Amino acid sequence: MYRDNYSMCFPKKFIIGTANSAFQSEGAADRDGKSPSMMDHFARTHAGKFVPGVVKAGFAMTTDLPDNGCFFYDNFEAYIDDMKKTGQDAYRLSLAWPRIIPNGVGEVNEAGAAFYDRVIDTLLKAGIEPFVDLLHWDLPMCLHERGGYASDDFPDWFEAYARVCFERWGDRVKLWSTFNEPCVAITSGFVEGRFPPFEKDLEKGLRAGQKLLLAHYRAVKCYRQMGLDGKIGAVNAIIPVYPASCSAEDIAAARRQAEVRFDWWAQPMVKGCYPQNLLEECPGYRNAMPEGYAEELRAAFVPVDFLGINYYVTSRSSDDPDALLRSRRVQTFYAQPGLKNDIYPAGLLDSLLYVRDRYDNIPVFITENGLCTPDSGDEETDCQDELRISYLREHFRMIYRAMLAGVDIRGYFYWNDADSYEQLTGYSQRFGLTWIDRHTGRRRWKKSRYYFQTIAQTHMVD
Ligand code: NOJ
Repeated sequence: MYRDNYSMCFPKKFIIGTANSAFQSEGAADRDGKSPSMMDHFARTHAGKFVPGVVKAGFAMTTDLPDNGCFFYDNFEAYIDDMKKTGQDAYRLSLAWPRIIPNGVGEVNEAGAAFYDRVIDTLLKAGIEPFVDLLHWDLPMCLHERGGYASDDFPDWFEAYARVCFERWGDRVKLWSTFNEPCVAITSGFVEGRFPPFEKDLEKGLRAGQKLLLAHYRAVKCYRQMGLDGKIGAVNAIIPVYPASCSAEDIAAARRQAEVRFDWWAQPMVKGCYPQNLLEECPGYRNAMPEGYAEELRAAFVPVDFLGINYYVTSRSSDDPDALLRSRRVQTFYAQPGLKNDIYPAGLLDSLLYVRDRYDNIPVFITENGLCTPDSGDEETDCQDELRISYLREHFRMIYRAMLAGVDIRGYFYWNDADSYEQLTGYSQRFGLTWIDRHTGRRRWKKSRYYFQTIAQTHMVD
């Protein structure tokens, strides 16, 4: 890697792209045979309802409906044209299971599958590599009603769906991920009750997590058995957790918090087992685990080719012997009023070093990283997004430093390509490089997209 004091260059093969998910971008929630996902369902039934502990105390779920996303279903060609003009190498998208197999299992909905044929072909024609997630939280609602993640059948359902996708797109898609952020789907959704389906049941959550991991192994195994020539991994949220003090107790408390968010998922995916010390130190957790969990994982284990990490925020913890994880969250160091997520670029460097050290420098993609700013109500203000430019610059600098430290980083995806529907907060937060009129779908490049364009085209950051 070339380096002087004034510029930071990335290798040519380091892929730079943007990302979005099916549920948040496509819209057309009920069109062409698509059935509702559990995300559609809970957005509709919980609109405006109070959700304890979410984002800030007293948070009520958005009354915005996700039915239009950012109109990607109708406008994907224009979006991909923008990506081409941006000069980016790749686009990370997810497939909507309920669009492809509306009953969750069984018959493929040709109209839904044909949509993804068109998207993938258009991307490839534009020279943009698709990075595809099989499930980004939008489980078919009909499967959730049949027990969902916690069902004994979940691994079968997921493997069958994955096989359909690999058979149809495996020739053209070379980068696959099984699940996006299982810790949100499962821990936040079933243990903490602050994400759909808003349940608080530790045992059920741990069982659902175990089934999800088994399903993940089954999909990876299926991919390998089909002899396809791409790479397969999974995407996990990573939160660097700092100790509230240098005491051994606070350090252990911070480690447990980091482990429960990230390693609880990443470690089974890379090494075939849960973090052992967490289970030893937290009897409440250990006792709620399904019987025979360790052997079951070990027997089914197949390692991933890479890890995807989503980095947004940091946390800080102190020891708390009464808490389930013997750990309590305390105020993070810099309060940044007005922002939903505090900005801390060094946390990305720390996360990358953590993955390097704990996972034998496995190849890693930064599958998400991005700044959300509150919708100002004024298009011009939203588009002159200097803060997002600084955010990009500082995070790219951290990636460069991590590369110098030897971390095997394969790519970066900014979240997200365009302002779209955010789970729980709807359209009140804008993450995009492209500004969207949520009512009409009109698009406009923000200033940050021009800046991102220079990074993508030069593979350098100033
Ligand atoms: C991670 C999720 O994968 C994505 O769907 C969400 O929009 C971002 N976090 C931002 O909150």
